[in-house]
Amino acid sequence: MSAQARTEPAAGAISAAEGAREPCAIVIFGASGDLASRMLLPALYNLALDGRLPPSFAVVGFARTDWSDDDFRAQALAAVQEFSRRPIDPAVWESFAGNLHYVPGEYHEPQSHQRLAGVLERVERDCGTAGNHLYYLALPPSAAPAVIEQLGSVGHNREGTAWSRVIVEKPFGEDLQSALRLNKLLHRVFDEDDVYRIDHYLGKETVQNILVFRFANGIFEPIWNRRYVDHVQITVAESIGIGRRGGYYEETGALRDIVQNHMMHLLSLVAMEPPIAFNGRSVRDEKVKVLHAVRHLRADELPLCTARGQYGRGRVNGEEAPAYREEPEVAPASTTETFVALKMFVDNWRWAGVPFYLRTGKRLPKRDTEIAIQFRRAPHLLFRDIVDITSLEPNVLTMRIQPDEGISLKFHTKVPGSPLRIRTADMDFMYGASFPGEAPTAYETLLLDALRGDATLFTRADEVEAAWSITDGIIGGWHTLPAPAFPNYLAGSWGPAEAEALIESDGRQWRKL
Ligand code: BG6
Repeated sequence: MSAQARTEPAAGAISAAEGAREPCAIVIFGASGDLASRMLLPALYNLALDGRLPPSFAVVGFARTDWSDDDFRAQALAAVQEFSRRPIDPAVWESFAGNLHYVPGEYHEPQSHQRLAGVLERVERDCGTAGNHLYYLALPPSAAPAVIEQLGSVGHNREGTAWSRVIVEKPFGEDLQSALRLNKLLHRVFDEDDVYRIDHYLGKETVQNILVFRFANGIFEPIWNRRYVDHVQITVAESIGIGRRGGYYEETGALRDIVQNHMMHLLSLVAMEPPIAFNGRSVRDEKVKVLHAVRHLRADELPLCTARGQYGRGRVNGEEAPAYREEPEVAPASTTETFVALKMFVDNWRWAGVPFYLRTGKRLPKRDTEIAIQFRRAPHLLFRDIVDITSLEPNVLTMRIQPDEGISLKFHTKVPGSPLRIRTADMDFMYGASFPGEAPTAYETLLLDALRGDATLFTRADEVEAAWSITDGIIGGWHTLPAPAFPNYLAGSWGPAEAEALIESDGRQWRKL
């Protein structure tokens, strides 16, 4: 394990524009795959373009495809041309590409890893990477354990002043037991502080802004609690289906794919107590406390507090969409959910009794991720004799995560003239208008943080385990219920009737998006 003295770095993604300073070799396991082409290589290239990669660095791709260094460089060029947010600058590309290397090999095979070790020694000499290694496991979950074991036994993770960190992609396990096993394996080889479990949602600017909005402003914290908040709605709506990922999605479903990770992060950022410092330990300590406070639903509460859906044929954005069961690699009688709605409670002093309604689904009418804090009505209805006060919408603070990133506050205002009339207005902050220009992608932010040793925006072992124990409880309970009558919503609609009933039985409604 790395013997370097540890100091807790201040989280840097937001506050500092600086790049990574320590030399490093970045090893991408799964370098010939989709994630490397679409996300990782373009992100690394954009960091190079901004001068944010370490002064001495190398990228070593490792995968089963039989490529040479030159093949890898050609593939990387094609990937960056297609997926980079900015065009290629020939001079920057040339120097970046000179640092790309490739090792073909089998993930479980010691000889392959010996060859990788040889290449890492060579780049250490030639590129001055100082023995620091950032391993990126861009692999399906089934291949990751073999690589971690090899990293341990071949000794890439050396004692001494050099550091080794590992980035692990989602899904991190498929339930609590498998996540515990994976954590145990990782901890045999790496210190927890060197394990970076990635969730690209945390790399989104608007997700990071939840912390800034709540804790850099003094005016919201006093009302951010059960006294003022009626309920919270978190929506992750997608208009896309499952594309070519039928095999993966069949085993996963919406609860594991989106709720267990992305939505649990959104929930914990919204509900957490103010951390004592802006660093990885303090922020994650508070996030995990929220997950521990989430009430576990009993089996008899599930029909009232959860709704599952699966899309049938329909139309999305004017185009015909097939039913989920007609998608490639999906069983004709599949019972995998493509939609989930949940009512959750965070049982602590701040949130006791405040429902958190969560919904996510594929093939909904539009792509829209947002968090809406709905406040209680004014306690004394001063205008009740003049206007129909029930027709007035409550105050809502909305954080729009994507697209149309921004924040808005809905409040009531007097319509000019008489008699007195009241109308709802929005106070709107649009990211695009205030900060023109493109923001870094989530992968740029997260790769840079990992290079700088800042784990604030990565998931800690206890966090991932707490999130699994919440979703495992729901999945376990669902197994005891009769199989749902799928499909139960049309592609292009807002989900099944059960989801409406879940919130309407509390006298509330899903927001119209
Ligand atoms: C991934 C899920 O983690 O997130 C996908 O596996 C989903 O199913 C994607 O489509 C959504 O990410 P984004 O950034 O488009 O909201």
